[in-house]
Amino acid sequence: MNNNFDVIVIGSGPGGYVCAIRCAQLGLKTACVESRQTLGGTCLNVGCIPSKSLLNASEMYHKTQNEFGNMGIEVNAKLNLSKMMNNKNKSVSILTKGVEFLFKKNKITHLRGTGSIPKKNTIVVTDNSGKKTTYETKNIVIGTGSLPMSLPNIKIDEKIIVSSTGALSFDKVPKELIVIGGGYIGLELSSVWKRLGSKVTVIEYLDHILPGIDKDISSEFQKILKKQGINFTLDSKVTSVNIVKDKAIIDFTSNKTAKRERIECDKVLVAVGRKPNIGEDIIKLGIKLDKNKKILVNNKFETTIKNVYAIGDCIDKGPMLAHKAEDEGIAAAEIIAGQAGHVNYNVIPAVIYTSPEVAMVGKTEDELKKENIKYKVGKFPFLANSRAKVNNETEGFVKIIAEEKTDKVLGVSMISAVAGTLIAELALAMEFGASAEDIARTCHAHPTHSEAVKEAALAVDKRPIHF
Ligand code: NAI
Repeated sequence: MNNNFDVIVIGSGPGGYVCAIRCAQLGLKTACVESRQTLGGTCLNVGCIPSKSLLNASEMYHKTQNEFGNMGIEVNAKLNLSKMMNNKNKSVSILTKGVEFLFKKNKITHLRGTGSIPKKNTIVVTDNSGKKTTYETKNIVIGTGSLPMSLPNIKIDEKIIVSSTGALSFDKVPKELIVIGGGYIGLELSSVWKRLGSKVTVIEYLDHILPGIDKDISSEFQKILKKQGINFTLDSKVTSVNIVKDKAIIDFTSNKTAKRERIECDKVLVAVGRKPNIGEDIIKLGIKLDKNKKILVNNKFETTIKNVYAIGDCIDKGPMLAHKAEDEGIAAAEIIAGQAGHVNYNVIPAVIYTSPEVAMVGKTEDELKKENIKYKVGKFPFLANSRAKVNNETEGFVKIIAEEKTDKVLGVSMISAVAGTLIAELALAMEFGASAEDIARTCHAHPTHSEAVKEAALAVDKRPIHF
């Protein structure tokens, strides 16, 4: 094999593998280094994909128990957790093999092992047996992703004290699960295990869940989850978790009263955020990091070293989301090929795949207030949407925020059974600079959940029809 490449991408997550495919499409001789056995990174192997499989399966199970009866479908459902896990593993395997197929189709060389950058234009790959191979490359793209964070005094063992990785593979349903952190991971996995029968309590440091999202959404969503039986202890800081016999003992302190409390459970999920995965071997050329230890890049995704680019969770731009990484991967590939790659960070949708789902794109009211931008708000509840009504999916609402003077859509947040799908329309609208009136004047099929989007746009101008 010729060891010279135009581009070597380190990491095959959604950022890295998409970047490699785009590089190959643009005629660049491309390789991608991956230390995991399978391609696809955290997202495909131990993140987005397996969690969505369990979210889907557990939701079906929950519905058979709690909703089917009301619709006249009488079933006697029984949980088979190992089959549910096999089903998840099968999906993961099919999708990681799919990336392998795409690599072959695009003639991308898959380098198995851990990549390091010892000097300019050079990548060394160390395989499982410790064998090192050197490759020359004109360009390097770092897409090494992120790792779960823990807290001081908490050691994740992936058995009793787990990260998302462990919580996606429990071999039996925990009787009692404590989740530290009411963010994306905490709430998605709380939903999975609650539906499968665990008693779940979320301990969150702040006085609300989902930091950074619209306050209306956050408080309404917490009420919905509470109704589903998830317990919340807010405004509380977990200080330590210790294992005694087979149990975890959690100590936490109320931020308001300084009262210390202790609880016991079978499993603890630590979901307090993720940190960039950047080894010393990657940055020893002199690649600079910001104060959060993320790689500094300019608007062309160049690091502080020429011809070394970085994308995805490990850089200092945007949220840690798979689709943001994908778009950066494409942009970086196009820039390397001499084209004008670009990512619009104002329009990155985010989705929490609970039931109902939460989705948002653009600015929140709080952000606009801080920026002194005057705005108007239109809201529409799913209670008044006919399709949601017949499907028994009336929880949630759509909230559209538009600039006061120009009516330009600046942000949208929503809670809906299908929020993750609906948000695409709003991202497209914002990408095209749409006004709320543009959305309101667009014909939406009846009966669909999407009519609530149209009605929220009408509500910006105080003229919704069905509410
Ligand atoms: P997160 O940043 O979303 O939430 C972490 C939460 O932990 C915060 O609410 C924080 O206040 C809380 N916390 C921190 N220290 C604490 C303490 N001592 N005691 C109690 N609470 C404490 O992080 P999360 O959920 O771990 O997710 C990590 C990343 O993965 C996020 O950046 C997210 O974007 C991404 N992700 C995205 C998903 C999606 O798109 N659906 C799904 C899963 C993860």
